[in-house]
Amino acid sequence: MRYRVTLIEGDGIGPEVTAATCRVLEAAGAPVEWERVVAGAAAYEATGHPLPDAVIDSLKRNRVGLKGPLSTPKGSGYRSANVQLRQRLQLFVGWRPVVSLPGITSRYSDVDVVVLRENTEGLYAGIEHQVRPDTVVSLKLSSRAAASRIARWAFEYARNQGRSKITVCHKKAVLPLGDGAFVDAFFEVGQDYPFMEQEEASLDEVSMALAEDPSPFDVLLLENLYGDILSDLCAGLVGGLGVVPGANVGHEVALFEAVHGTAPDIAGKGVANPLAVLLSGVLMMEYMGARAVAQRVRDAVGDVLSAGKVRTGDLGGSANTEEFAQAIIDAMEGRP
Ligand code: NAI
Repeated sequence: MRYRVTLIEGDGIGPEVTAATCRVLEAAGAPVEWERVVAGAAAYEATGHPLPDAVIDSLKRNRVGLKGPLSTPKGSGYRSANVQLRQRLQLFVGWRPVVSLPGITSRYSDVDVVVLRENTEGLYAGIEHQVRPDTVVSLKLSSRAAASRIARWAFEYARNQGRSKITVCHKKAVLPLGDGAFVDAFFEVGQDYPFMEQEEASLDEVSMALAEDPSPFDVLLLENLYGDILSDLCAGLVGGLGVVPGANVGHEVALFEAVHGTAPDIAGKGVANPLAVLLSGVLMMEYMGARAVAQRVRDAVGDVLSAGKVRTGDLGGSANTEEFAQAIIDAMEGRP
């Protein structure tokens, strides 16, 4: 049985890293066929819109997609295609598992933290007013419904993944209504999961604690802006944005993507690191139930990184994108 998956190659290095990812996943036996659609700057040039309806239709039909980074055409008057995708498809969970990788030197060697970010509200709702020529008001949207929705997802996720603790992070000392409601919704939903450890902590406290020692944390749940920032902080604990996968997930659609951008400085040179998109593809395989395929790729990535001979420039090596992908394929073929 093969499943159709929407593939958005993206802009800049997107086509290079997604091509390498598809090649590795196919070599691992991924049970997928790709339905290619175009979004971002490439779509804007072709259709005048960075997020054509065909992209939304394909994702709604297939329910699962893999995406390279998208750039938002400057001066186009459009909001970020990434933000639009999250809002139009109600991809309300930003899911970023942050795990130490073999052979990648970073401050800690045993990090295993999952950051879950509410994707649809907060300051990213984009409600801004110019109230005086020199003064702007940016409003932070916080609804109980959105807070309960992501809390429920977080508890179900933690339970299904064998996680034992969720920490909800906030600034309710300064935002007692908005952040207070986010925390209250978390504990209210948490009553249905008495077997799960549940705690709250202020964002500043958590940021310092993570930098000092990430090991006490398991799953972190945050509203939009805090989650955006803290998920990059966590990526920094294991080697940066080039090595962490991500996904944006809703009740209907899950879209898997790297968290880095289009890297215009190296686009077209064939030297980008495909690891973040590849690991997002691995996460997608797990989400789709193809665990053996996912494990095959994870093991091969571990072999290549541990050996340390073939690496892209951002990881201190001199291999290009294709050589790195080929090394992973060779490692898979060399395994029993
Ligand atoms: P960026 O992540 O594209 O680049 C930052 C630095 O990291 C650059 O030096 C780049 O060469 C390097 N880099 C990024 N990915 C890499 C990879 N896979 N391998 C090797 N090096 C890599 O961030 P920047 O420059 O702020 O954004 C560029 C464009 O990307 C902007 O148009 C932005 O809107 C877009 N963007 C899109 C995202 C998405 O689609 N999810 C996320 C972030 C930015």
